Amino acid sequence: MKKVESRPRENEKKSDELFSDGTALTLKIELIKRNVKKIEACIFDLDGVIVDTAKYHFIAWKALAEELGFEFTLENNERLKGVSRMASLEILLEIGGLQFSEPEKRTMAEKKNTLYVTYIEEMTPEEILPGVPEFLQELKNNGIKIALGSASKNSPMILERIQLTEMFDAVVDGNSITEAKPNPEVFLKGAEWLSVLPENCVVFEDAIAGIEAARNAGMRCVGIGEPETLGMADFVIPGFDGFTLEKLKKELQAPFLFPRGGKD
Ligand code: BG6
Ligand code: MG
Repeated sequence: MKKVESRPRENEKKSDELFSDGTALTLKIELIKRNVKKIEACIFDLDGVIVDTAKYHFIAWKALAEELGFEFTLENNERLKGVSRMASLEILLEIGGLQFSEPEKRTMAEKKNTLYVTYIEEMTPEEILPGVPEFLQELKNNGIKIALGSASKNSPMILERIQLTEMFDAVVDGNSITEAKPNPEVFLKGAEWLSVLPENCVVFEDAIAGIEAARNAGMRCVGIGEPETLGMADFVIPGFDGFTLEKLKKELQAPFLFPRGGKD
């Protein structure tokens, strides 16, 4: 019987054939692959993303301001979102028009934190923001790694209280970084601890400084809050209620390649 030779169909290129730009097919595929951003990890800010602790920070900063003799408003509190404890104190003192020595400032920050901790000690899983547990579970089911990237030194305690510690493959918090957001350190460390390239991470952030940090890390970023305020994010959602991996894919318009073990 005559052997039928399989011949490349029209428009089909053999691996060693060149494209008009001089690139071989195998190399072309490799280049495309390298440019494709996968979603291998999601890094979450804590305050304002997983739980609403801004109200407790506000009570504690307001108490300090009152003790120092000036008013601290909710509007003022907005300026402290995503900002480290000491930097928050600096802003607060600037609002009050006051100056203190470094040791005095450390004492004030500690005092504020002691009051803040009395509130977060009482937190329960009920305070997890709507849709967060479902979304985290969906990521896990799809083999996507999960990290925390928060400025808060109280992160481990909060995660324990709301019983979410086990969901995180890495926890980077205020205790493990030296540079505050918008410096990308917190997110780059998260990517490193997860052994994932920054370009394959997606950050979830509610603060402008945090979105800038994600951008500076070369990561894609989903804003949690108002699009008017968080315009630098790739896209903004009001919260995780009803948010799914499918919606994330669609919004980022990424040619999703899930890590091994993923369902998609
Ligand atoms: C951030 C909050 O997550 O953590 C800030 O948005 C806060 O408001 C900062 O100041 C530091 O938190 P902590 O718990 O270390 O005082
Ligand atoms: Mg935040």
